[in-house]
Amino acid sequence: MKKKTLTLLIVLIAALCAYAQNEQNMPIIPAPQSVTYNAGTYTLNTNVVMYAKNVKNLTPYIQAEFQQKLGLKINTVKKKDQAQLILELNKDAHSDAEGYKLSVTKNGIHITASTEPGLFYGIQSLMQLLLASSNHKTLSNLEITDAPRFSWRSYMLDEARHFHGTKSVKQMLDVMAQLKMNVFHWHLVDDQGWRIEIKKYPLLTQVGSKRTDTQVGGFGSEKRAGCAHEGYYTQEEVKEIIAYAKARHIKIVPEIEMPGHASASIAAYPWLGTKNEKIDVPIVFGKHYHTYNVIDPKVQDFLEDVISEVLALFKTDVIHIGGDEVRFNHWEEDEKMVAYKKQKNFSSFMDIQIEFTNIMSQFIQKKGASMMGWNEILGKNLHASDNIQFSETSTKIAPNVVVQFWAGDLKELVKAAQDGYRLVNSHSGSTYLDYDYASIPLKKAYHFDPIPKNLPQQYHQNIIGSGCQMWTEFVPTKEILNKMTFPRIAAYAEVGWTQPAQKDFDNFVTRLRPVVGRWEAMGINGYPCPELQ
Ligand code: ACM
Repeated sequence: MKKKTLTLLIVLIAALCAYAQNEQNMPIIPAPQSVTYNAGTYTLNTNVVMYAKNVKNLTPYIQAEFQQKLGLKINTVKKKDQAQLILELNKDAHSDAEGYKLSVTKNGIHITASTEPGLFYGIQSLMQLLLASSNHKTLSNLEITDAPRFSWRSYMLDEARHFHGTKSVKQMLDVMAQLKMNVFHWHLVDDQGWRIEIKKYPLLTQVGSKRTDTQVGGFGSEKRAGCAHEGYYTQEEVKEIIAYAKARHIKIVPEIEMPGHASASIAAYPWLGTKNEKIDVPIVFGKHYHTYNVIDPKVQDFLEDVISEVLALFKTDVIHIGGDEVRFNHWEEDEKMVAYKKQKNFSSFMDIQIEFTNIMSQFIQKKGASMMGWNEILGKNLHASDNIQFSETSTKIAPNVVVQFWAGDLKELVKAAQDGYRLVNSHSGSTYLDYDYASIPLKKAYHFDPIPKNLPQQYHQNIIGSGCQMWTEFVPTKEILNKMTFPRIAAYAEVGWTQPAQKDFDNFVTRLRPVVGRWEAMGINGYPCPELQ
C-alpha cells in the first residue's frame, strides 16, 4: 500500500472512531431526532460573540445561562461574519414550530429555527453539549436536526395539598426548560387548599388557603403532622411566575377544580355547596363529599367570575377545570337537585355534572380559550365502584376541549381520539409521580408510549402529548418532592420529545448520569435509582 493511501486510511479510521465514540456519548436529553458528527472541533472564546437575527426575547436568558452555567460571557454584534454563535429566525428554517437545526463547523455555531421556541430548544441542546465538554468551550463538529414528537409535554405540580412556593416553582420551570418541556400544569385548587388570590372573592384565600393540621402516613391513616399548613399566591406573584415561564417558553395551565374537590372554597363561602353549612378546610386526603351546587345561578356566577379572573390573569388559551372524582352524595340529599334531575329526565347525578361541564366548556370557548379536564369530563364511568347509569344530555361539550386521560379503560382513550378530541395521555399507572419507584420504576416511566397500540394511525395526531403529575398529598417537603420527581421527569421529557426509533433506555441512562450530577450541584437530590448506580 502506498504511504499516501495508508495515511488516508488511518485518518479515515480515526474519524470513524471519533464519530462512533461521539455518537455513543451524545449528551443531550431528550435525545434529538438526528445527530451527525463530523471530523474536527470548534472552540468558543470565553467572551462569545453572538449574532442574533430577528430574535427579540432570548438574549437576556442566554446571557444569564451561559454566564452562570458555563462561565462564558455573551456579547452581541450586528455583523454575522464577526460572530462565533449565530442564531437565526427564518420562517422556512424548519417545518415544525418547535424544531431547530444546530450545526458546529470550523466557522462557528449556527442555530436556525422558524420560531423563538425552536431557537430556545436549539440553545438548550447547545448548553448540554457545552456542559458535557471538559472545558465548556470545545465541541465536536456536528449537525443536529430536531423537533418534538408531541406539542404538549407537561409537568403538573399540586400545590393545593402542599404549598411549595415561588422558589420551588421557578426551579421546576428551570429544569423543565432544560428538558424542553413546555406546559406547567398548576394544580392550584383542591379540597385541602385554595392557593390563588381571586380579587372578587377574598375569603377564598383568607379562609381557604389555611388548614389546621395535615394527615400523614398515607390514605386512611389516623396520624397527623401536628401543625397548621397555609400558603397562596397573590396575583402579583402569579404574574412574576408567568413571566418567568414565558421567558422559558413554558405555557402555564392553571387548574381550578369543579364541581368536586371543592371543600376549601366551600369552607370560605358555604353557600357554594348544597348543604350551605360551615365546614373547615379538610386536613385528611381522599375523595371528599362537598360539591358545588351547580344548579344555583349564584354558584354558576361565582364559577364564571373565577374563571374570567383566572383567564385574564394568565392570558392563557387553556384552563383546566378538573372535573375528576366528583361525589354526588350531597346532591342526592338535596331536594332541589333531586327535582332538577327529575325535571331533566336524567338517569344519574353524573348527568348533571356533564351538563354543567358542557356549559362551562362553552363559556370558556366564548372567552377565546379551551377548557381542559380530567377524562371524567367526557362522562364515562371511570370508577367501577360508582356504578352510574348515564343518559344523553341535551348540552354538548365544546369541540375545542382538551381531555387529560388519567384513569379508566384505555378503550375510552382510543374512542375519544377517534371522536376527534384532543387528548393528553397522563395515565396514572404510568405517569403519576406520587407513585413510588416500585410501582413506576425509571424504565417503566421511560417506556411509556402516549399513543395506544391499537389506535389507528390517522388518529395519532389527536394525542397531542403527555404529562407527568406530581400530586402532593404526602409530599410536604421539597426533599420528598425532588425524590419523587427526579430523575423520572427526564424519562417523561424523552417520552414527550423523542421519536420511538431514537429511544434506547441504556443509552438514556448513560446520558442521564451527568445530568443527575448537575442536579445534585443545584441541590436537587433525586431518588437513587438502581440503574444509575
Ligand atoms: C386524579 O388523579 N384524581 C386526576
